[in-house]
Amino acid sequence: MFFRSFVAAAIVTLVAAGPCVRDYIVKDGDICDKISTAQGVSTYQLGVINNGIIDNECSNLTPNLKICLGYLGEDCTTVYTVARGDTCEAIAAAHNVNVTLLHENNPQINPGCGNIYIGEVLCVASKVIVPPPAVGKSFPMPSTAMPAVPSKTPQPVANDEEDLPWCDEL
Ligand SMILES: *[C@@H]1O[C@H](CO)[C@@H](O)[C@H](O)[C@H]1NC(C)=O
Repeated sequence: MFFRSFVAAAIVTLVAAGPCVRDYIVKDGDICDKISTAQGVSTYQLGVINNGIIDNECSNLTPNLKICLGYLGEDCTTVYTVARGDTCEAIAAAHNVNVTLLHENNPQINPGCGNIYIGEVLCVASKVIVPPPAVGKSFPMPSTAMPAVPSKTPQPVANDEEDLPWCDEL
């Protein structure tokens, strides 16, 4: 048991990525996706590289904090900022990549692509290039994030029995 944990820790240390090829100093008023769009770094990449530094809502950036935007050999600089109405299919087609690759480069996107949000920055590179996901890491998403395509409001199911609760008592 101890041995296994030790091995796991050693492997994690060995694959620890880097070196950083793009440093960035946080400015007053910065939020993650603003940095991402301005600097050309995906929401996922910014989050996974700064795991443990930037919190899951990206609410703890402070001016002069030094963060890393890209690791050598794992630095996606071909990015796209999600707009209202975007779907994974449309984004992929517009950048000549398939949806599989879009998911591989943006592992935070759920299988149905229902969780992409306006302002999220996606890697649209033509090969897999981003660092692997960090174990136990959820990805920074602002608490104010608006889905690119609003989910349909479930329609109330017509059900006479529910409208007439007293029927159950007859
Ligand atoms: C998606 O694109 C990648 C890279 O071009 C390719 O290797 C892969 O086979 C494609 N997958 C599908 C399902 O078309």
